[in-house]
Amino acid sequence: MRSKIVAGNWKMNKTYHEMEILLGELEAKVPDTEAEIMVAPSFVNLPRAFMMLESSVIEPIAQNMHFAESGAYTGEVSADMLLGIGIETVILGHSERRSIFGETDDVLAKKVVAALAKNLRVVFCFGEELEDRKSDNHFNIVADQLTKGLFNLEADAWKNIVLAYEPVWAIGTGETASPEQAQEMHAFIRKAISDKYDATIADNVSILYGGSVKPANAAEIFSKPDVDGGLIGGASLNADDFMAIVKAI
Ligand code: 13P
Repeated sequence: MRSKIVAGNWKMNKTYHEMEILLGELEAKVPDTEAEIMVAPSFVNLPRAFMMLESSVIEPIAQNMHFAESGAYTGEVSADMLLGIGIETVILGHSERRSIFGETDDVLAKKVVAALAKNLRVVFCFGEELEDRKSDNHFNIVADQLTKGLFNLEADAWKNIVLAYEPVWAIGTGETASPEQAQEMHAFIRKAISDKYDATIADNVSILYGGSVKPANAAEIFSKPDVDGGLIGGASLNADDFMAIVKAI
């Protein structure tokens, strides 16, 4: 059985002190749920987040990492550095990493391999741009991102992969994919994995939806059979909103 997951991607938000306040509020409001709950603060705040969440059901996760073991990569963070502060999960391939920081499919494939080699769990993000959807090319784009980023992996590696379908046109725009659009794409993704690997791997992988998920639309999106949770940006910065989304699952 695949897990239900709600993860908050805080992006470049929250100072050390602001994070302490938000984590305190989240801890106070966390509902009883079978879903996994994750939050991704910035690198500098991760050690403190880990300490604050040590006995919590909320898992602190990283927003990114480099593929190299160590070396002359100014400003970067390695898998071992994450493991060294207790982090077990890393987001890779977010559209902002792809579009603003130039991370290519090839670079991301290397990062995934490097993370899995260290037994980190990977939340792998991908999704089409608005032009791709308008030109009816969104399935091709998503298939290509999956193929280049993940389909080089051995079947066994998939137990440590979580997918996050995030259509770029829905990120931070207030425009959400409709529940039907999300379900259609998630079913397509699961079929692509089943065709490449097998039905068991496809059935067991959690596929999150991301892009303007809010308390008001979360329940409907999460009600779709192939949507296993959400990767939440803006709404994860507010404890009431984030926990309302957690409750919606
Ligand atoms: P929003 O929820 O702000 O649209 O962001 C989604 C996202 O990018 C999560 O990674």
